[in-house]
Amino acid sequence: MKVDVILGLQWGDEGKGKVVDVLTPGYEMVARFQGGPNAGHTLEFEGKKFILKSIPSGIFQEGKINVIGNGVVIDPALFKLEVETLEESGHTLTDRLCISKKAHLILPTHRLLDAASEKAMGDAKIGTTGRGIGPAYTDKISRHGLRVGDLFHDFETKYRKAVLRHKEMLDQYDFEYDLPGLEKQWFEGVEKMKEFQIIDSEHVIQRHLDEGGTVLAEGAQGSMLDIDFGSYPFVTSSTTSCAGACTGLGISPRQIGEVFGIFKAYCTRVGSGPFPTELFDDDGQRLRDNGNEYGSVTGRPRRCGWIDLVALRYTIKLNGVTKLVMMKSDVLDEFESIKACIAYRVNGQETEELPYDLETGIEPVYVELPGWQADMTKIQSENEFPEEFNNYVTFLEEELEVPITIVSVGPDRAQTIIR
Ligand code: GDP
Ligand code: IMO
Ligand code: MG
Repeated sequence: MKVDVILGLQWGDEGKGKVVDVLTPGYEMVARFQGGPNAGHTLEFEGKKFILKSIPSGIFQEGKINVIGNGVVIDPALFKLEVETLEESGHTLTDRLCISKKAHLILPTHRLLDAASEKAMGDAKIGTTGRGIGPAYTDKISRHGLRVGDLFHDFETKYRKAVLRHKEMLDQYDFEYDLPGLEKQWFEGVEKMKEFQIIDSEHVIQRHLDEGGTVLAEGAQGSMLDIDFGSYPFVTSSTTSCAGACTGLGISPRQIGEVFGIFKAYCTRVGSGPFPTELFDDDGQRLRDNGNEYGSVTGRPRRCGWIDLVALRYTIKLNGVTKLVMMKSDVLDEFESIKACIAYRVNGQETEELPYDLETGIEPVYVELPGWQADMTKIQSENEFPEEFNNYVTFLEEELEVPITIVSVGPDRAQTIIR
């Protein structure tokens, strides 16, 4: 059987958590393939709201196996907090959450290095989530990383060696820190992690597929934050695109089935870096207010702008998206008219291809479409869509050349229309 992939097509926070939760009943296994606690995946149902960071978003659907894949970086201290929040609300996880032995650990010193590096960069900072993501993936690639499987083999020695190395790096910065305070929570987290099944995830996933099982692969961040194809250097440190599902779970490209590409009906970004369609006017503030665009991890206000079809066409191609999912349609409910960027004008030349340099001289070329000015949040089926909304969907499908198969009209699990 095949692995279907869900990933974000913009700069993250598209609504991946909600859609994974909605689609999970169709699969036996949900597996996160990259990122770490920089992610914040929000799920709402039955009047409750949860924000997941490292735990896959299939966790609330009964009887499903949830796997934290080898491509993920995991901070035991934050993992423990996340597990405890779910346990306090009555969800037992130990029987259905497994962690890959090959997932890398985020050490307390990775977090310190992230903070020290950001501070040293001043105005040029990346605006990271401060979760130690960059330093942890750097250690992975430079072959200094510690993995979950290491917890069971002379771990203390390996940990001290890594910390010594990190302290030397921290000495290069003008940065004060309290490591023992962080370490206490971290080692408590390690003990919590050991309550879970620590598995050879690639074998478990392959065996499951051989036996005819289905897998939903959950991405974090978005393709415009991809380490190779995103707005470098203002990106995260992992492969957020579809290829990351292969390396982050141990599946071959031939095992990928559907690729669900998720986007907001407009666009947001949090942190620094280029954003060609960003709005600094009342419309931008209206998107932020109506969409409650404040980061689920850091609480930072998200930057808001119109939908960018140049960037979307690019990320759809890179990922081989077969089905599109449009989120937060209701956020545009009040707008008299809606703009969509169909091309960029760069040095007077119009282009539909995403240029190498996204920072200088880009002027978005917009088309304007009439808004629907109706309440979408109560809509139950496609038949109830206002005409202007149908026109917006058709326009996007024609521009993007992929069908929009799911439309989200509110944060709740139930506010989802499958077409
Ligand atoms: P993720 O990181 O891709 O999982 O997305 P986030 O959870 O960070 O951000 C999406 C936010 O939008 C969350 O607060 C969701 O509850 C909310 N959300 C998801 N879908 C919709 C929708 O269709 N309408 C509205 N108004 N909010 C939504
Ligand atoms: P989800 O999965 C939105 C952004 C940060 C920063 C850059 C690098 O919830 O969509 P990092 O901490 O990864 O080194 O930060 O990436 N970023 C996200 N933006 N959603 C996310 O995750 C993000 N994870 C990282 O704001 O600009
Ligand atoms: Mg998020």
